[in-house]
Amino acid sequence: MSEANKRNLMAIDDLGDELGDIIDWAIAFKHGGEFSRDFKPLDGMSIGSIYEKPSTRTRVSFEVGVSRLGGQPLTLLSNDIQLGKSESIADTAAVLSRFLDGITYRCFEHGHAEELAQHATVPVINALSDLHHPCQAAADLMTIIEHGDSVNGHIAWVGDGNNVFHDLLLAAVCLGMDVKYATPVGFEPDESIMQRASEIASRTGSNISGTNNPVEAVSGAGVIYTDIFVSMGEEHMEGKFEAFDGFQVNEDLVAHADPNYLFMHCLPAHRGEEVTDGVIDSVNSVVLDQAENRMWAQMSLLTLLCNEDAWHTFRELA
Ligand code: CP
Ligand code: NVA
Repeated sequence: MSEANKRNLMAIDDLGDELGDIIDWAIAFKHGGEFSRDFKPLDGMSIGSIYEKPSTRTRVSFEVGVSRLGGQPLTLLSNDIQLGKSESIADTAAVLSRFLDGITYRCFEHGHAEELAQHATVPVINALSDLHHPCQAAADLMTIIEHGDSVNGHIAWVGDGNNVFHDLLLAAVCLGMDVKYATPVGFEPDESIMQRASEIASRTGSNISGTNNPVEAVSGAGVIYTDIFVSMGEEHMEGKFEAFDGFQVNEDLVAHADPNYLFMHCLPAHRGEEVTDGVIDSVNSVVLDQAENRMWAQMSLLTLLCNEDAWHTFRELA
C-alpha cells in the first residue's frame, strides 16, 4: 500500500458506506470454516498495538485476530516504550512505521490518536480514546445484525454520553437505525459528534432523540445498552456517581422494553452500579457475543486497511 493511499480508523463514521460491508464480511468470516482458517491477508506483516490504558478484550482480540490472519502482533505497553516520556508522538509514529504494517492505539486524548495517524505512514486504528471507540461499535452493530430477526425497536442508550455511545450512535445512524439516549443533565454526548450524527441521520433516515429520563429512552426498545458511569481517565471525577442515580439498568427499567430486547454492554461491567446481575446474566444479554465479535470485526477492518486488494478479492469468495 502506498503512503498516499493509507487509511486510518479514528471514528466509526470514517468507514462511511463501507461499514455495512465490513460487518457482512465479518459475519461471513466468523462462519467461514475452512475458508476462514486458510485466509492469511496479513502474511508477512506486523501489527503493533500501543496501550496507555488497561485492556482485556481489545488486547486479546487484536493479538489473536492478527495471528489468525497470518500476521505478527506486537503489544506495546506505554510504560515500556518511550512514547510520552522521552519521545514525541510524531517521532514514535515515524519510527514505528519503518517496522510495522499497521498500528492500533489506545490513548487518553483523542487528539493524540489523530497526531499519531497524521505522522504514521501505515494505517492507524483507534483502539479507544476519550471520544471514540470505533472497534467496539463495529462489533456491536455486527452483534445487532446477527440477532436481526429478533430485534424489534430502537437502540436505547442509558448512562454516560461517552466514547462508547458516540461510536454506537454514529454506527447506528450510518446503518439507518433509530437511537434514543438517556443521560443525566451535564453528561450529554459531545456536541460536535451529535452534529455529525444528525447530518448522517438526515441522509439515512434515522431518528435520534435525547432525554434525561431512562424510562422514556427504553420504552419499546429493541436494544438497551449501557456502560460504566466513570470511564478510564475519569477516576478523579469524584461525585460523578451521584448524577447517575436512577440510571441503573435493572429489572424494573427493562420491563419497559420489547420483551425480546437485547441487553448490551461493551464490558468491563461494574455489576450493581450501571447494571444488575439479573439483567446482565439474563437470556436477553448478548455481552459475550459482543466481546467475541470484537475479533471478527477487527479482522475484517485490518484486512481492509492493511491489504485492501485481499479484502475485495476474498469478499467475493466468502
Ligand atoms: N470493551 C473493551 O474495549 O474492553 P477492554 O477495555 O477490556 O479492551
Ligand atoms: N467508557 C469506557 C469504555 C471501556 C471499554 C472507558 O472509556 O473506560
